[in-house]
Amino acid sequence: MRAVFAIIVGAGKGERLLSDTPKQFLSLGHKTVFERSFDVLNTCVKAKNIVCIIPKGSDACIFPQQVDGGNTRQESVFIGLEWLKKNTAIQDDDIVLIHDAARPFVKEGDIKNLIVALQTQSAATLASPLSDSLRHKKNGKIDRDGLFALQTPQGFHFGILYEAHIKNTDKTHTDDTSLVESNGHNIEIVASSSRNFKITTMDDYIMAQSLLSPIRIATGSGFDVHAFDTIDADSIRICGIDIPHNKKLKGHSDADVGLHALTDALLGAIGAGDIGEHFPPSNDTYKDMDSSVFLEKAISLMKDKKAALQHLDVTIICEAPKLMAYKQKMRERIAQICHIGIERVSVKATTTEKLGFTGRDEGIAAQAVATVGFYA
Ligand code: CTP
Ligand code: MG
Repeated sequence: MRAVFAIIVGAGKGERLLSDTPKQFLSLGHKTVFERSFDVLNTCVKAKNIVCIIPKGSDACIFPQQVDGGNTRQESVFIGLEWLKKNTAIQDDDIVLIHDAARPFVKEGDIKNLIVALQTQSAATLASPLSDSLRHKKNGKIDRDGLFALQTPQGFHFGILYEAHIKNTDKTHTDDTSLVESNGHNIEIVASSSRNFKITTMDDYIMAQSLLSPIRIATGSGFDVHAFDTIDADSIRICGIDIPHNKKLKGHSDADVGLHALTDALLGAIGAGDIGEHFPPSNDTYKDMDSSVFLEKAISLMKDKKAALQHLDVTIICEAPKLMAYKQKMRERIAQICHIGIERVSVKATTTEKLGFTGRDEGIAAQAVATVGFYA
């Protein structure tokens, strides 16, 4: 049996998808697209034999072995090959699989079939038979018999792929079989599922999301109150935003009543206790703490439970300050802390018509609801 290594290329900008975040870092359930691709490859290849190619300058440490990519896909693959040569015991006869980070739905069984083919063949690719009728714009109908759409992983005996990369100075090949073929090698086709599509456009991402429905939805509620301090102040922090005001809220941390209600709502949705259990006020570490830390902790507990945020809704209850002008900024800040789109965050404000402690301007209350989806 030949040893198996893998390079997952995820250094692209995802320009055709038109999103601020490169497509490989978008969420699919409780994981990113890239994490899903890694996890499937890791069922067939040892983690220490996989190198992930990430965008240049990205400082996130996500994978056991990762390295900055190049300006084209071909350059990124070559960076991976050089990395394996330098940092592992890879031999020319060993197998190297090249996989697009943007194909998170590749099936474990298909990768295993590819590895079996590569015991005897020096180059092979997953590919799915075409089902649509084909027509060339100028030349008319094309017989689709025997035509396949190439996918990844594509697998090679290391020495052959390395040599093809060294010989090809033109850096624009969008897959590795074309490089190896231009060097005179035969490519074996291993049929695979059409589910192994590459996320390229926003439509592809929407389709990917629809393939991953949560198996359970849960909601949690949160409530918090802080009294105003008697000391004069010039700003007050609510939902992570500092708002000009002549009073501050009393509290052990920064007293951000909005983020506290949201944190409790999220902890409620995942059945993980309440904010006081995780951050006891008796612990001096949390003194004057930025409350975004509490919400971040709840997000990380949620990920551990294979869950992802669907929606957050918070209502701030006070007579003053007036929050109208800050609600959008608050939504943006909450979305940023939770790594979700702003469309999944709602911030509302209300008074109690001068009734009760909020009506007498003695303090501020906040209530929140979090909706969370659990994934298989
Ligand atoms: N890729 C890479 N390095 C590059 C370009 C692409 O590692 N310089 C990776 C992508 O991250 C992706 C795979 O190669 O996983 C397939 O490329 P493609 O679908 O074209 O992704 P992008 O180049 O990111 O997308 P676009 O072409 O729309 O910008
Ligand atoms: Mg590209």
